[in-house]
Amino acid sequence: MPNILVTGGAGFIGSNFVYYMLEKHPDYRIVCIDSLTYAGNLSTLEKALQNENFRFVKADITDREAVDKLFGEENFTAVVNFAAESHVDRSIESPEVFLKTNILGTQVLMDMARKYGNIRYHQVSTDEVYGDLPLDRPDLFFTEETPIHTSSPYSASKASADLLVMAYYRTYKLPVTISRCSNNYGPYHFPEKLIPLMIINALHGKSLPVYGDGLNVRDWLYVEDHCKAIDMILHGGRIGEVYNIGGHNERANIDVVKTVLSILGKDESLITYVKDRPGHDMRYAIDPTKIKNELGWYPETTFENGIKKTVEWYLQNEAWWQEIVSGEYMNYYEKMYKDR
Ligand code: NAD
Ligand code: DAU
Repeated sequence: MPNILVTGGAGFIGSNFVYYMLEKHPDYRIVCIDSLTYAGNLSTLEKALQNENFRFVKADITDREAVDKLFGEENFTAVVNFAAESHVDRSIESPEVFLKTNILGTQVLMDMARKYGNIRYHQVSTDEVYGDLPLDRPDLFFTEETPIHTSSPYSASKASADLLVMAYYRTYKLPVTISRCSNNYGPYHFPEKLIPLMIINALHGKSLPVYGDGLNVRDWLYVEDHCKAIDMILHGGRIGEVYNIGGHNERANIDVVKTVLSILGKDESLITYVKDRPGHDMRYAIDPTKIKNELGWYPETTFENGIKKTVEWYLQNEAWWQEIVSGEYMNYYEKMYKDR
């Protein structure tokens, strides 16, 4: 029976991946390790915990002893590493934990993958490692050959991890792959990120803080399409290769915010332009030709459908996000947005 270790499975994309895999491969065992930082939420995995093929372990991926113990107990056939500090704004405030989790955590996992029989290892990376593209060159896209050129402590930590993954491939022949996906959206997205933040603020009639002039572009992908791509890479990807994932869905932030408002039937007067993010990347845009040609991947959910489904999910799952926004999150929000 394939036995897959999913790290960071109590977070946004990791939890969607857990559900995707349990449904797609009912004969697989899925083990999740997550330290339940502010971004991890066990209630997200409530339904998975009822599945006998699923196990949850609360531990930190930088805790070598705990990770070693887990690998000793289980007979993993693959590792998919989602666990990370993932929010750019937080990395600007406090970079250190980003370096620890995102780089050293990756190292611990790969050391254990080596120790326990050269286990297949997949690193979930990001398009942010390529830096950004100018707004006036819509013909340019990130390919797997685009040089690494990072902007924030977050992206620098993810790029460092990618370099380490490739070093373990070349030096130790660890069977690795890396995926670099564009911005995800969908269920269980933590409220500090653009789309859920705007949905929740709009529902509360609070102002919607748009950084700078709102013209920065992100390339949005429905989270399930990202999960599908990782599953395909895990099963058919070539070892030692990087795969970009994205569905040619570029939108200016201000247009995304207006779309959310229009779905909710709220007024655009809620929009407030606030001080820009330092080092703010202008545009991300993925060229997914490689994964399409090699693995036959394509995105199934259009932005128009995906954003409606997402808003609907937040309306239907208020208990999930109310628990978050009523706790420690409020202190973060006050600190981050007070003087903007
Ligand atoms: P998230 O912040 O929602 O979740 C991260 C999860 O990792 C949380 O459950 C958290 O508790 C856990 N975690 C953090 N530090 C840990 C540690 N030291 N040990 C164990 N668990 C720990 O993040 P996300 O948005 O789901 O992103 C998941 C991965 O995908 C990240 O590696 C991120 O870089 C990458 N990625 C994200 C996006 C996106 O749009 N969100 C796009 C491309 C790539
Ligand atoms: O591209 C992939 C990356 O996408 C992932 O690697 C990161 O983990 C993920 O957080 C995301 O990074 P971004 O910085 O693009 O996402 P965020 O939701 O923080 O911001 C999206 C855009 O919206 C960005 O241009 C900043 C802007 N923004 C964000 C917030 C939170 C605002 O204008 N106002 C806000 O309040």
